[in-house]
Amino acid sequence: MEKLLVTSALPYANGPLHIGHIAGAYLPADIYVRYKRLKGDDVVYICGTDEHGVAITIAAEKQGITPKELVDYYYKDIKNSFDKLGISFDNFSRTTKPVHYKTSQDFFLRIYEKGYIYKKDIEQFYCPKCKRFLPDRYVVGTCPYCGYPHARGDQCEKCGRWLEPTELIDPKCAICGTTPVIKKTYHYYFKLSAFAEPLRKWLESKDWKENVKNTALGWIKEGLKDRAITRDLEWGVPVPLPEAKGKVLYVWFDAPIGYISSTKEWAEKIGQPNKWKDYWLDPKTRLIHFIGKDNIVFHAIVWPAMLMAHGDFVLPDNVPANEFMNLMGDKISTSRGWAIWIPEFVDAFGPDYVRFGLAFSLPEYKDSDFNFYEFQQRVNSELADNFGNFVNRTLSFIKNYLGGRIPEAKNFKDMDLEVIKAIEEAPGKVGALLEKFEMRKALREVLDLSNLANRYFDYKKPWVTRKTDAEETARTLYLCASLVKTLSVLAEPFIPFGAQKIRQMLNIKDRLTWEDAGKLDLPAGLELGEIEILYRKISDEKIEAEVNKLKSRLKKPEPQKEEKEVEEKKISYDEFAKLDIRIGKILEAEKVEGADRLLKLKVDLGDKVITLVAGIAKFYSPEDVVGKELPVLANLEPRKIRGILSQGMILAAVDKDGNVVLLHPDKEVPPGTKVS
Ligand code: 2FM
Ligand code: ZN
Repeated sequence: MEKLLVTSALPYANGPLHIGHIAGAYLPADIYVRYKRLKGDDVVYICGTDEHGVAITIAAEKQGITPKELVDYYYKDIKNSFDKLGISFDNFSRTTKPVHYKTSQDFFLRIYEKGYIYKKDIEQFYCPKCKRFLPDRYVVGTCPYCGYPHARGDQCEKCGRWLEPTELIDPKCAICGTTPVIKKTYHYYFKLSAFAEPLRKWLESKDWKENVKNTALGWIKEGLKDRAITRDLEWGVPVPLPEAKGKVLYVWFDAPIGYISSTKEWAEKIGQPNKWKDYWLDPKTRLIHFIGKDNIVFHAIVWPAMLMAHGDFVLPDNVPANEFMNLMGDKISTSRGWAIWIPEFVDAFGPDYVRFGLAFSLPEYKDSDFNFYEFQQRVNSELADNFGNFVNRTLSFIKNYLGGRIPEAKNFKDMDLEVIKAIEEAPGKVGALLEKFEMRKALREVLDLSNLANRYFDYKKPWVTRKTDAEETARTLYLCASLVKTLSVLAEPFIPFGAQKIRQMLNIKDRLTWEDAGKLDLPAGLELGEIEILYRKISDEKIEAEVNKLKSRLKKPEPQKEEKEVEEKKISYDEFAKLDIRIGKILEAEKVEGADRLLKLKVDLGDKVITLVAGIAKFYSPEDVVGKELPVLANLEPRKIRGILSQGMILAAVDKDGNVVLLHPDKEVPPGTKVS
């Protein structure tokens, strides 16, 4: 039996949860712990809200409320989303609880006493207009490493590096846009540099996802700098040193300690206050942190270094980090309103549908895309037609023709034997994939078993044999019912609500284990419970309604500052002359699958025909544009859009709301005619 402490990144209590959060750090972890519990392993699954730091104070400031009011509201809101979705934490805590303050302060003191924290006089940004110091996200500017122009003072969203505000190029106050001035202050620094070698050795010994390990090793190679772990803020865990009045711990110092304090709270709640030590202090514990890729630097470098500095606790065994999930071909963005919020999504479809849809598209190795139409298609073909249908046809058949009792079976042969083998092997196959955090492949394996089950039912034709061969019919339905049981266990990590329902329909009272899924042990004579349809198909109307709801919320982005600057800039005639603008004639047009804003066009440019992708599908259908002439920028660097190489760009009028109007020549001209 393994001992596991599994965590999901503590979400900031500054906004509601959307599908991107769930697909990153929560659903994969929940699938994993549900599997491990079924295996009989000793698992504790820990989480809570991250309630400090400037992500909180800025959001509160914007809403005109206190940080406390903000986190109280979102703690409940976030917890409600997790509950609705069946994310099965053993404890969901908050980093504003006393146990967390104490644990973080003790942690700090311990490594301070060991000499890994030192005080340093520094120069820090101060906004003369807002009259305050500007920690972390209060400063924005250009990343000195990758050149990303909207990097925040604590981390670059693009390359993921941990930054100090003063490293930013062209820094600005995030609140008022003023260029900050430098003022003297002091902070406490964590000797991260001292852990470069131990971290490197430790990471190299790990069998982690390539991207996580390589990214972390890459940063170590670049050199690890000591980092300030305190801030001049009123909101946070006070630095536990009498001389450090007014300073609080940096949120990324206290947040991961939240994993420990939440475990302590769990132990208290179950009435065994020392039980947390069984996990955190036992080197045999496998500590697994599920996170999104923006958290890699903290979980693969900073937190392990903190743990090494402390010395008592286990180090992470694995840090399965997921990439990002996009939505309908576009980046999820809370500020632009481009997101699917969890409570609404679950209310519209039910938790299993949402879990299933997201599990199918988990961004395990690269960014993935959630698309409502694909969601509908997968639910309908796999959850309803494949999985649900098999359960229903089997159990209804037994209800209708076999007196509602599991039949007795003997003399297995041919395809029966194939099915028995599949049942026996399935837990091992699915389990091996889940052990490797390959949730998508594991789900595919479960659905493949259900496919086989349907094929078996079709091949055996019990609706025919019931009139001619009772023994054969009994054999078939016994194995089908066994498959239903097996599927209910193997699918439980993904769709726990349906799995439970199947157990009720099968009238199985005992808790089944993963191992039970591979056994042929259904007792003949067992009377089935009430049968109900497990999963229904999603109609076109329902999906359209959801798509429309999503689109209606989309806010137009504020024009970026740089864009304004570009508008005002004059260019020389020579620069203009570099543009090869010509009249093209559209020969063919088609929608791009899975991207409802895009049309793929074949355009005749006189001397050549090019393919290009244009964002006009919301305004023009393919039939509207075929045969039309319009100006095309013919020498734009080719770009891959949705897997299609786009070799140019059409020029059109775009109004302030983003509506597109195509431009056509006053009279027809030969394709390729130059526009100047
Ligand atoms: O990125 C985030 O949302 C952070 N609140 C994650 C914190 S994880 C942990 F270390 F607590
Ligand atoms: Zn960067």
